[in-house]
Amino acid sequence: MPGQLFDNALNQPGMPFPLLKVLVHSRAMNFLRGKRILLGVSGGIAAYKSAELVRQLRVAGAFVRVVMTPAASEFITARTFQALSGERVWCDWSDDRTAMEHIELARWAETILVAPATADTLARLAQGRADDLLAAVCLASNAPLAVAPAMNQAMWRHAATQHNVLVMQQRGVSVLGPASGAQACGETGPGRMLEPVELVEHLSASFANGLLAGLKVVVSAGPTREPLDPVRFFSNRSSGKMGYAVARAAREAGALVDLVSGPVVLESPAGVDCVRVETAAEMHREVMARMADCDLYIGAAAVADYRPLSPAGDKIKKQEQTRSVELEPVPDILAAVAALEQRPLCVGFAAETGRLEEYAQKKRIQKGVEMIAANRVGKGLGFETDDNELLLVWDGGSCLLERDHKPILARRLIEQIAALYARLAKSKSGSKPVEHHAKHSA
Ligand code: PMT
Repeated sequence: MPGQLFDNALNQPGMPFPLLKVLVHSRAMNFLRGKRILLGVSGGIAAYKSAELVRQLRVAGAFVRVVMTPAASEFITARTFQALSGERVWCDWSDDRTAMEHIELARWAETILVAPATADTLARLAQGRADDLLAAVCLASNAPLAVAPAMNQAMWRHAATQHNVLVMQQRGVSVLGPASGAQACGETGPGRMLEPVELVEHLSASFANGLLAGLKVVVSAGPTREPLDPVRFFSNRSSGKMGYAVARAAREAGALVDLVSGPVVLESPAGVDCVRVETAAEMHREVMARMADCDLYIGAAAVADYRPLSPAGDKIKKQEQTRSVELEPVPDILAAVAALEQRPLCVGFAAETGRLEEYAQKKRIQKGVEMIAANRVGKGLGFETDDNELLLVWDGGSCLLERDHKPILARRLIEQIAALYARLAKSKSGSKPVEHHAKHSA
């Protein structure tokens, strides 16, 4: 798992200092884990640094795909990038132009970084050309675009390059660098590509958004285990992936996040306070203990509905005859939070096998919450899987978040929740969400 690489790398003996610096620094603010970065490499001597850039992005937990211009292949081989990224590398259009690779790559990318971006590449991107694969991907993608210029200082200072840079900046492109100093051509001045460690920091910071800035968010995730005897329990298939992705996305949105997690094998997201529990009763206690200053509760955990009424004190011995277990209902944590007098905005999840909208709306009303994120479970979606699809329902509206990786869906979910939060705060100005919004500092 890419994220594990990030933490493991901190313990590598002999790790180069700049990498150590970015990783240590990023412990609190690494927003790259699970992100899909498309790296464009154009033909300049700085292309050798792009190999280290790919490595550092992978260490930080990102997925990286590399698209090289034909000129880039004269400076560095595709094989180097393939080995470091663990992905296929695209060097130009394939013979089969109908393959729509540029569209597929454009859709895949969550952000595009062209590093190095030569003077020629900048000129062609500024003009919106699509005559090589990289330029076509940049044109076809809605993802944010960043460029890291690298060229001779006179080429950088030339009015044509400066004009191209301005045009791109006006279009919203982030221009990272260049740095000034000694150049490969023997001259000195601006035109050096930023170091990989600096580009990683820029990219990481670009994923931070302030949608929930200053809010206190509590997220529940994973399954619960309800003991039958000291060695057996009732549980479910929840892996925690969805809830952890939501906690991470809320953190990236600037919230202070507490994660109350059932037993899962995932690492706590960086910058999130995580408390681990086992049973629904423990989850109930830990969630309620965090409600005093909570602005937003997101219940992604698959909490038991029933538990054995009287768990056996000793291991139950195998017997020939059938055995029944008496179950009692488990308190509903989400409903309990929603019933508090001073309550946060509440978002619940619902795992359904059909009639999603109808059941989700019923559940929303029944539990008295503002939003339900319903997932259709089965067919590679919902429990345990890396992908999900969510139908969000609220009072008077709904919206489908189409199938995607859970981290990406989680960020879209947070955007929708932030929008709902803002709408409710506006319509009930003077109500609790508004007061709370002012209460926490970012
Ligand atoms: O963990 P993953 O493998 O990534 O899978 C994600 C998921 C499918 C578990 C997740 O997306 C999801 O749907 N979680 C809620 C599943 C569920 O238990 O749904 P429910 O219909 O039983 O509960 C509805 C809501 O009430 C949920 O917000 C749940 O947290 C809450 N609840 C339920 C029972 C209970 N005793 N207390 C609760 O708070």
